[in-house]
Amino acid sequence: MSTSTLTDSPAWKALQAHHAEVAGLHLRQLFAADPTRGDRFTAEACGLYLDYAKNRVTGRTLELLVALAAERGLRGRIDAMFRGEKINTTENRAVLHVALRAPRGEKIVVDGEDVVPGVHEVLDKMADFAGRVRSGAWLGHTGRKIRNVINIGIGGSDLGPVMAYEALKFYSDRALRCEFVSNVDSDDFAEAVRGLEPAETLFVISSKTFTTLETMTNARTARDWVVAGLGGDESCVARHFVAVSTNAEKVREFGIDTANMFGFWDWVGGRYSMDSAIGLSTMVAVGPDNFHAMLAGFHEMDEHFRTAPFGENLPVLMALLAVWYGDFFDAQTAAVLPYEQYLKRFPAYLQQLTMESNGKSVTLDGDHVDYNTGAIYWGEPGTNGQHSFYQLIHQGTHLIPCDFIGFAKTLNPIGRHHDILLANMFAQAEALAFGKTAEEVRAEGTREDLVPHRVFEGNRPSNTILAEVIDPKTLGKLIALYEHSVFTQGTIWGINPFDQWGVELGKVLAQRIIPELESQDAPELKHDSSTNALIARYRRMNS
Ligand code: F6P
Repeated sequence: MSTSTLTDSPAWKALQAHHAEVAGLHLRQLFAADPTRGDRFTAEACGLYLDYAKNRVTGRTLELLVALAAERGLRGRIDAMFRGEKINTTENRAVLHVALRAPRGEKIVVDGEDVVPGVHEVLDKMADFAGRVRSGAWLGHTGRKIRNVINIGIGGSDLGPVMAYEALKFYSDRALRCEFVSNVDSDDFAEAVRGLEPAETLFVISSKTFTTLETMTNARTARDWVVAGLGGDESCVARHFVAVSTNAEKVREFGIDTANMFGFWDWVGGRYSMDSAIGLSTMVAVGPDNFHAMLAGFHEMDEHFRTAPFGENLPVLMALLAVWYGDFFDAQTAAVLPYEQYLKRFPAYLQQLTMESNGKSVTLDGDHVDYNTGAIYWGEPGTNGQHSFYQLIHQGTHLIPCDFIGFAKTLNPIGRHHDILLANMFAQAEALAFGKTAEEVRAEGTREDLVPHRVFEGNRPSNTILAEVIDPKTLGKLIALYEHSVFTQGTIWGINPFDQWGVELGKVLAQRIIPELESQDAPELKHDSSTNALIARYRRMNS
């Protein structure tokens, strides 16, 4: 696949010409022209219903987008990923998060070795451990039952676990308190352990590399907190710390017995790792059966993505629509709006998944792109956003494609809440699409000078994803939907969604600045004048 010639490709050029024809069409016209649009522009798979009718597309747009996917070699890339080929070329790694949810007995070979048995070995070890913590068989150093589980990790070693914990809280063991510490800001650690008994607290140190500054700083602080709280006896670490990592040597160096280490592999990217041992805290919270149900949901969506024709393929459709808006309408951002409080951390999780993956400006060949790549993802659970930023989506100057996510049933049926919630979700998508014309505003008797202020242009696109209820399996399907959409977008753009070199420079510079903040004597500062002045002022303010 040639990656640098995207904008010269026949499918791209056809889309450009087509865009010039359809960009001026209003969703009101598209719906008026086809009364069946609301049924036709939909797809359903794995129990997820995707309504993409309120997008600024015609049947022809979809044909052309699907042709683009074919021309960009998407089928081959999907097969290569699932076969375990080293498609993460800049790190020379396979990309096999799909193997983490492959059922026992399936075969996926990397470097001559079937990785699936190893995946299940770790899952079994996790289940055994989670079961012991939940039942009280795993006791703290002084023989007390574990009541608090604190995951220490950051990025992919935090966002997936905390999102899944919040999403599946309804299914969690309420006798266990789960906390997630990620920020190196000591406020995060201090607030997480406030009021907790070290004797009843278990830390799960989650870090693929076991070298990440934030995580190792928090882990050391946690160790000091436990050791001090339990009388200074270092041997207590064994009962209060377990590690999730690919780096046994560093785990040992930290003082955690590798018998209490849960491993994974370099072919699992950080932001794709929540199904690996990185999900240990999730499994402890919700139990092995629910964790396995989540994995089954992921796998179902994996199979759909791998096998369904592109025109019916949920992740592919969502990705193609993202490319359509980002590259042809110059949309810079995309909003994800779950109408489900349990998904409150889903937008934050998606920010890493989408932006660390597709925030790239060179192709796999190292050429600079001359088109937009990954959009800025953001969002809040409904209906809170409606009383905050929706104003801008409705009447602002930016085109912001929205994903509405809702569920037919609530886990907490109380009075009219759920109908009111879903009515709001449907209403927002309707209002965005169809708006309100000046004539309609006038017909309501609005004063003429207020008419322009009260007009809603409409023609603002959205997808609506509807599922039955938020449960472990559905959560797995939803996450895999976005994972594969991100991969598909990256494939169209010819970039590598699986590396993250852009996070390195800041890490290196921070290591240089730390001693300059900590040294007793005033250091000789050799940064730019702004950074020098800030460091000098910080030192003065702290002296
Ligand atoms: O922010 C960069 C990153 O490498 C992420 O990709 C990763 O999820 C996170 O840091 C944490 O890394 P680790 O699990 O090695 O501590």
